[in-house]
Amino acid sequence: MKGYPADPDPYPNYRWLRANAPACPMGGDTAEESTCFVTSYELVRAGLLDSRLSSDPRNAAGADPSAPAERSVLDSDPPDHGRMRRVVNPAFSLTAVDALRPTIARICREAIAGLAGHGRADLMAEYGLVVPVAVIHEILGVPPEQRVDPVLFMDRFWWAAAAREPDPEAAEFIDAYVTRILEYKRAHPGDDVTTALLRALEDGGLRDESELRGMVTAVLGAGHTTTVPLVSAGIVRMLQHPAQRAKAMADPARWADVVEELLRHDSVIQVSTNRYAVEDLVIGDVPVPRGGTVLMSFAAANRDPARFDDPDVFDMDRPRGGHLAFGHGTHFCLGAHLGRAEAEIALRLLFETLGDVRLTVPVEDVVWSFGPMLRGPAAIPVTFTPVGGARQGARA
Ligand code: HEM
Repeated sequence: MKGYPADPDPYPNYRWLRANAPACPMGGDTAEESTCFVTSYELVRAGLLDSRLSSDPRNAAGADPSAPAERSVLDSDPPDHGRMRRVVNPAFSLTAVDALRPTIARICREAIAGLAGHGRADLMAEYGLVVPVAVIHEILGVPPEQRVDPVLFMDRFWWAAAAREPDPEAAEFIDAYVTRILEYKRAHPGDDVTTALLRALEDGGLRDESELRGMVTAVLGAGHTTTVPLVSAGIVRMLQHPAQRAKAMADPARWADVVEELLRHDSVIQVSTNRYAVEDLVIGDVPVPRGGTVLMSFAAANRDPARFDDPDVFDMDRPRGGHLAFGHGTHFCLGAHLGRAEAEIALRLLFETLGDVRLTVPVEDVVWSFGPMLRGPAAIPVTFTPVGGARQGARA
């Protein structure tokens, strides 16, 4: 483990860009090499709906169209995108996620039981991280004895896919882990997403082993690197805003409002995956040549004052909806219902159990990390009155 570097607050930069250059060419000596970074709500939303912007890296300037790739929904366009997405959609529907709620609650309770007697914890490493990693393994049908340590798991995924300088060793680790999961599920099929993907390989829903591996990796990765910072950011915001926490505690239906505001305010996925122009086009007043790269900032769009009043204020009472935290259009998040359910349940059960939990550092000293693509607290050091039978084991 290398640890997560502290990221500066990006919102002042987003504010400047939105006001002065809502579509902004960045880096690169030529138009093809530069990336157009988009920050206003209007342009981000329009870009996510624009079929001239492809998610397929083979459309990038200078790309080798025959390069081998483990493809998934994330890096494909219609119609391949829809074919792959249909295989996994049923497992992430509202009905399917509602049926998972007791499992999510059990996982949360087990994690809370593991720390509640100690009186002090890092709620990121011991809770925010543990719950989503366990949930996505359940969904993929991977039993506990087949899993790696959740802290190591998150670490490898971040270094492989989301870090500024990706680490090839972390990518090798994930490759080997996906191989292991597929071997296990071929021998032990069940009522789970990996088995559904294996069956799709037989009936033509997936074309080849490369798509199978791409989809397992996408669900494993997108299924936890997102929810870990969402739950963790939620813990910090609820500690920071006790009056809003009290409202949710008094009426548990209000946790859904907390989570919706959390999605908007903290945009745990800060930016879209790369998009590539399939023809010459103009975004705002910036020309993007065919093959040029476009990145859309969900985080900047979600704090655009043209769309949200007082956008930097965390306010669970603001009207719900309209945020782009789950993306928009074709690539709208597969796991949106799941992410919402996990965050609601995890926050409610945590605060119901640990009544007087408090940060051991001022909230402004909480370190935020996982950039540039993700953003969430790197650690959440807290103390609380020990709960349950393990009081005598309280940590020093
Ligand atoms: C909980 C917080 C989550 C957030 C904020 C989030 C956010 C997003 C966003 C912004 C996108 C679109 C990316 C783009 O257009 O470039 C996306 C796509 C996706 N998400 Fe999530 N996500 C979350 C949870 C999950 C979970 C739990 C899963 C579990 C499977 C998941 C799986 C995916 C997949 C597979 C895609 C690609 C969809 C496609 O290309 O059709 N996400 N997510």
